[in-house]
Amino acid sequence: MLKIYDDSSKTLHEICDNVSLPLSKEDEVVLLKMLDYLKKSQDEEYAEKHHMRSGVGLAAPQIGIKKRMFVIYYQDENNEIIQYALVNPKIIANSTKLCALEGGEGCLSVNEDKKGFVYRYYKITMKAFDLLKNKEITFTATGYKAIVLQHELDHLNGILYYDRINKNNPFERKNNSELI
Ligand code: NI
Repeated sequence: MLKIYDDSSKTLHEICDNVSLPLSKEDEVVLLKMLDYLKKSQDEEYAEKHHMRSGVGLAAPQIGIKKRMFVIYYQDENNEIIQYALVNPKIIANSTKLCALEGGEGCLSVNEDKKGFVYRYYKITMKAFDLLKNKEITFTATGYKAIVLQHELDHLNGILYYDRINKNNPFERKNNSELI
């Protein structure tokens, strides 16, 4: 079982290093283990037995590895499985419109939820190497999916979701934004 580091760990506040491609066997194994962790965390019985919190995304620094890679796994409202194992991800385009989760964000590395809106781009285009497709991909995401991707990308830059909450006004409503 992977050990998840919390936000007292230095690695979670550092900028991660680029990963060399083609991907090493070692990095491949790490990504697949991370994906497996997310799947298991969403299996209620298994998660309870192993004291795991349910998560939809996990970035390498959260398991103590300072590399630019993360995984995402969840089922969307149409029961479609959304999964990625991304290496060296970059946002190459973004909307000016913003969005935030109405109930706020959570993170496997933050043990107590911090309340407040975390504003992110409503729409992004991301470019990355995806191990699950074994090639470089460019794709567009909106709403919840865009939020999850930006949360994970932030981890690679040492940023936690609560760093983006306005401390003086955690529930401020921004112009040109949508709560989802
Ligand atoms: Ni997180």
